[in-house]
Amino acid sequence: MWRLHLRRSFLLALALLCLGGALLAGPPPIASRSEADLRTFYQRSCIGCHGPDGAAKDPDGKALRGRDLTELGGPHGPSDQRLVKTIQGGVFFGLSMPAYRQDLTEEETLRLVRTILRKARRGEPIQGAAELSTSAR
Ligand code: HEC
Repeated sequence: MWRLHLRRSFLLALALLCLGGALLAGPPPIASRSEADLRTFYQRSCIGCHGPDGAAKDPDGKALRGRDLTELGGPHGPSDQRLVKTIQGGVFFGLSMPAYRQDLTEEETLRLVRTILRKARRGEPIQGAAELSTSAR
């Protein structure tokens, strides 16, 4: 009888410990997106306005609604921080461009700016995870 009781309180203690641990640890950290995932994100979310290569033209050369991202450089161009702010907060209350702070962390946005948008070249489509893995050998 006492053995059973002991086992039960042991299990109860264990359960409480796990619960406490889970509460202390908070929600599990969400893994930060890889560069390939960020590229895929660009393809899904930004192409419609900024074009496959970032030049704000569709493959037929028709002008899209976005800003040409292949011309961000130059000493008078916007800073990384400025671009991150625009992507996170959107443009004109989200009407010209949606805000992406729910979809991208600040760190991911900064990497998107530095490793993808800053390197965008006209006529070179920004490739996603799928194309990268088939072109890598
Ligand atoms: C609905 C169309 C639309 C979508 C979707 C969109 N944008 Fe934009 N974006 C715009 C417009 C329009 C502007 C220019 C606003 C202005 O400054 O007049 C802009 C501006 C920007 C700028 C600022 C450029 C500069 O010179 O300061 C960046 C960076 C940018 N977009 C990145 C992105 C990224 C990254 C995505 C996807 C996550 C995205 N945009 C999705 C329409 C869009």
